[in-house]
Amino acid sequence: MSLPPAATPRKRVGILISGGGSNMAALIAAARDPAFPAEIALVVSNRVTAGGLAKAEAAGVATSVIDHRGFSDRESFDRAVDAALNDAHVDVLCMAGFMRIVSNWFAETWRDRALNIHPALLPAYTGLNTHARAIADGVRVTGATVHFVRPELDVGPIIIQAAVPVLATDTPGTLAARVLVEEHRIYPQALAWVASGRAHVVRRADGTEHVVIDAPPSPAPTLISPALQR
Ligand code: GAR
Repeated sequence: MSLPPAATPRKRVGILISGGGSNMAALIAAARDPAFPAEIALVVSNRVTAGGLAKAEAAGVATSVIDHRGFSDRESFDRAVDAALNDAHVDVLCMAGFMRIVSNWFAETWRDRALNIHPALLPAYTGLNTHARAIADGVRVTGATVHFVRPELDVGPIIIQAAVPVLATDTPGTLAARVLVEEHRIYPQALAWVASGRAHVVRRADGTEHVVIDAPPSPAPTLISPALQR
């Protein structure tokens, strides 16, 4: 991805994880470029055993563990996560292998500021075991989607997708590995579009929502003094 230098202050990003955190690592790596329009302010895990925590700490990113088992209901857990994000002055939220359904309250509070990555070409194959289900159905193409979060699971305006062929020899593991490569490519791109203000959710007359990506700002015109044009 080639990016012009960040013209405005970088957005502060919070990442929610539950597991290995390879997508989180891809976002942290992208944000190392000073021209990337976002910096990673905080990683929150709902599992103390999440492998991504050590990766974030090794990269010098602040981490927090908020164990969902300590809360009596979904919204009180979500409110604790929201408080941690606010304490870190987070502007944009990226769910990266965060295996929790969020409450309506959380989805509305973070509306159009929260992104999720899902290992399928949504709206196909929401939920779990996407690769095994795609192989069982005999589909020829699957992929990955980054979308804005809405209260329903794996639903929301699509920011970017990548297609991945399903091979006759694929197992869920081999297919997941090839899809992950694409996930690591498209998630930083989606975050760059959102953080730079280029991605907008547009509501159409029929009530459906779509994402429009603005063209990149054109470079400032070169001023040529008439005195130099001889
Ligand atoms: C990724 O494939 C991500 O798309 C998926 O979990 C994996 C996490 O890997 N997310 C979901 O299924 C959410 N619906 P990672 O921890 O290495 O990024």
